[in-house]
Amino acid sequence: MPITYDSQKRIFKLDTKTSTYALLVYRENYLVHLYYGAKLPDDNLASLMYRGRFDSLSPYNPKVEDELFSPDINPLEYSTNGAGDFRISACSVRGENGDTVTDLRYVSHRILPGKPKLPGLPATFAGEDEAQTLELETVDSVTGVRAFLLYTVFEEYGVITRSVRFENRGSAPVVLERAYSACVDFPGMDFDMVHLYGRWAKENSTARHPLQHGIQSIQSKRGMAGPNHNPFVALARNGCTEETGEAYGFNLIYSGNFAIDIETDTRGCSRLLMGINPTDFRWKLSPEESFTTPEAVLVYSDAGMGGMSRTFHKFYLNHLMRSEWAKKKRPLLINSWEAAYFDFDDDKLAAFAGEAQKLGIEMLVMDDGWFGNRCDDHRALGDWAVNEQKLKGGLQSLIQRVNALGVKFGIWYEPEMINPDSDLYRAHPDWAVCARGRDKSISRYQCVLDMTREDVRDNIFRQMYDVISKNNIEYIKWDCNRHISEAASLQLPPDRQGEFFHRYVLGVYDLMDRITTAFPHILLENCSSGGGRFDAGMLYYSPQIWASDNTDAIERLTIQFGASLCYPIASLGAHVSANPRTSLKTRGNVAMCGTFGYELDPVKLTEEERALVRRQVADYHKYYDLIRYGDFYRLTSPTDNPFFCEWEFVSEDKTEALTTLVVMRQPEHVFHIQYLRGLDPDRLYREEETGEVYSGALLMHAGLNLSCVSWESPDGDSLVRHFTAV
Ligand code: GLA
Repeated sequence: MPITYDSQKRIFKLDTKTSTYALLVYRENYLVHLYYGAKLPDDNLASLMYRGRFDSLSPYNPKVEDELFSPDINPLEYSTNGAGDFRISACSVRGENGDTVTDLRYVSHRILPGKPKLPGLPATFAGEDEAQTLELETVDSVTGVRAFLLYTVFEEYGVITRSVRFENRGSAPVVLERAYSACVDFPGMDFDMVHLYGRWAKENSTARHPLQHGIQSIQSKRGMAGPNHNPFVALARNGCTEETGEAYGFNLIYSGNFAIDIETDTRGCSRLLMGINPTDFRWKLSPEESFTTPEAVLVYSDAGMGGMSRTFHKFYLNHLMRSEWAKKKRPLLINSWEAAYFDFDDDKLAAFAGEAQKLGIEMLVMDDGWFGNRCDDHRALGDWAVNEQKLKGGLQSLIQRVNALGVKFGIWYEPEMINPDSDLYRAHPDWAVCARGRDKSISRYQCVLDMTREDVRDNIFRQMYDVISKNNIEYIKWDCNRHISEAASLQLPPDRQGEFFHRYVLGVYDLMDRITTAFPHILLENCSSGGGRFDAGMLYYSPQIWASDNTDAIERLTIQFGASLCYPIASLGAHVSANPRTSLKTRGNVAMCGTFGYELDPVKLTEEERALVRRQVADYHKYYDLIRYGDFYRLTSPTDNPFFCEWEFVSEDKTEALTTLVVMRQPEHVFHIQYLRGLDPDRLYREEETGEVYSGALLMHAGLNLSCVSWESPDGDSLVRHFTAV
């Protein structure tokens, strides 16, 4: 069984096929963290309890009667507040007495088959025989608040997920001021922190640096996860490389204000916290009410950063992306945005569809500009009725024309937003987010709709339902092009304004749930000014997310490599655009490391380009399964190497591999060997183009000498090779 409890020693052991996680109920019912790391066969883990002396500045509980136990220095399972642990706290409850001392102690536990749902939140899912869940009940004796710590063990994946449910069983309201989803104490600080940072059009750059004494943190206060920091962190043990060593991956299934804090204390031990950002968070919990935190996903890998990523990829494909499209073949699409921006009508779109169809493209997506008087980005968000001056004859007639060509039809929405210049705003100015007595800041000429309000969500749902239910729409792009300032709701009382940000996210999830439930067959793609919402919360609803408005193939390398640390290749929205810096060939090869699609005017393609597009479309089908369900290897990262970027897909049964090399810049030293990974060393593989046969061992250990390519290829060139076992 993956979860065991030794009632004599009061030790819980959570085993996956690669890892062990252990904790202990110590004297006075303190929950003490024992271990997280490589799998341990031992039954007796009591020796893992930290035993260290502490000085007179560390408080201790005399009832414990252990001179080596202080909450200030011992690793704790879910650090509480103001009760002797001076490191960062995972939770803090302000009770009726006004103080925030919070001291959770173990009460009882249950071990459940499968995994319970988290109310109102996206989360991983499992059948009863696919996972096991430990629920630890803890209590703060003064406020009566109970915290249920939930751990679900996915044995087959090396994954543990965590979240916390608070219940107020006391007699007075309390306020949750911090409520993190997970806390993990590590002995030592011999780790690098790896995380993703960026901005609009430069998402997911990878940063790696050693842990420092003090607190290091990444977070969002933008209302959305945002492009600036991604709710993902890895701790890479010193010496951990792409394919060797220990890496711990942490990802929060949440699309709003998050924080991942790592404190390395002066003893040299490290604590990682992950959850809702406590800044601007206050949640009033009345008696009998409960609050559930978002879910944190913990991955342990002894096969380097690559092993960690491959675990995330498989796990999310099978246990997070709930759409029927997660593993169903998705249509190859062309999007109108970069081809037309706001300047289109029904004839232009029908012409796009006609040309696209000749090239083998299967779906036309009509991007921004089809509704209200949306002639530019200054107006009409909120007015989701078709603009019949642009689409003469209406949407149904356009879709019929497109469908008659054998092409499917998709549409763009930005449901959470409102322009001051819109009929919706004129009718309901109070529906825009604003703080009483303050002016509203504007961003991209728009305001944010108050998604905490049910009436607002109902209105947007009805408007969307009206269009979608009457037309043969098979895909929706859900965009979100600003962040939240002057964050408050006119509908919430003053003592609940601290709930605004989280209620906003819950409102978005509710609307997304209603749309995807009403239209389960529609393929949903998320987007937020490019990749500003590339998070696991969104993956739950939409199996693909637009990775960046930057469609330059070279820039895309760091963006897509960064995202691949945590998110499946099958989720990475990537298109071939008209962006001229690299050849059409390389743009195709880079977009192939993602969902693949087009975002250009197909009418303007030359005959030569059309022939190449047809080949790319054929490759899309040929390699569809290999790319989406195969194992992904980052061979050479554009963050580490200024000249080359290389990656590889290997089928699960190791009978097929596909490598891509992009020459970002001609190297001074042209000598270059490409080492493949993940093959069967004892099998022979034939390279498709040359017909040469090599052993897996040769391809992985001696590698292929590509010095010729690096000598002959101009900047931006690329080379794809396909290997099949003979
Ligand atoms: C955002 C998206 C783009 C496009 C525009 C439309 O910037 O990232 O892909 O949809 O909005 O306004």
